[in-house]
Amino acid sequence: MTTETDRPTTRTPDHAIEPLFTERWSPRAFTGEAVPEAELMRMFEAARWSPSSYNSQPWRFVYSLRDTPDWPVFLDLLTPGNRKWAVDTGALVFLVSNSRMKVGDELKPAPSHSLDAGAASLAFALQANRLGWHVHGMGGFDRERAPGVLNVPEHHKIEAAYAVGRAVPWADLTEEQREKERPNARRPITDFVHAGGFPKSEA
Ligand SMILES: Cc1cc2nc3c(=O)[nH]c(=O)nc-3n(C[C@H](O)[C@H](O)[C@H](O)COP(=O)(O)O)c2cc1C
Repeated sequence: MTTETDRPTTRTPDHAIEPLFTERWSPRAFTGEAVPEAELMRMFEAARWSPSSYNSQPWRFVYSLRDTPDWPVFLDLLTPGNRKWAVDTGALVFLVSNSRMKVGDELKPAPSHSLDAGAASLAFALQANRLGWHVHGMGGFDRERAPGVLNVPEHHKIEAAYAVGRAVPWADLTEEQREKERPNARRPITDFVHAGGFPKSEA
């Protein structure tokens, strides 16, 4: 049996971390396998326990499963480039955040609604990986049409779309696909972590 350890990767952490962080990546070759709704709920459940400012939990998820009437509607919101590969995933999800939160009886601007939703998105993706699925985030969707089609309420922002599916195993990829289907690398930690403030060269 071929396992995912066959897939070449340049992901070597400079400091010791849990492998789940480097094992998450965004494929574009998916098998077309349906994602059972119960599995998707486990991903949302992981997102549910994310931290947020004042525990305001501003994230909202709307989803469609392949082979349901909502599927073509969601798919049609993606840019053509994303649609090309997302058509072979098993679930499409839009992550929305509420830009206002309740403080006492008042609705106030939530300063970190996007940050909080971002935390939820990573929990979602990591849980998906643990279950053997992959999540690929997409900023490429029709931002004008999406709020109306998805019935997004006022004061809510669509943060991103996510395709969830089963990645094609390395052994089953064509040579051409293999060029693209490798987890990418990262800048070194020294590029973005600074003791005592930003270095003068970046100010
Ligand atoms: C908010 C967001 C928007 C993205 N938009 C797209 C997109 O429209 N199309 C695409 O193919 N990948 C998209 N990506 C995937 C990124 O390119 C990818 O996460 C990045 O290259 C890091 O690779 P990795 O996820 O495999 O670690 C997006 C990712 C995020 C988080």
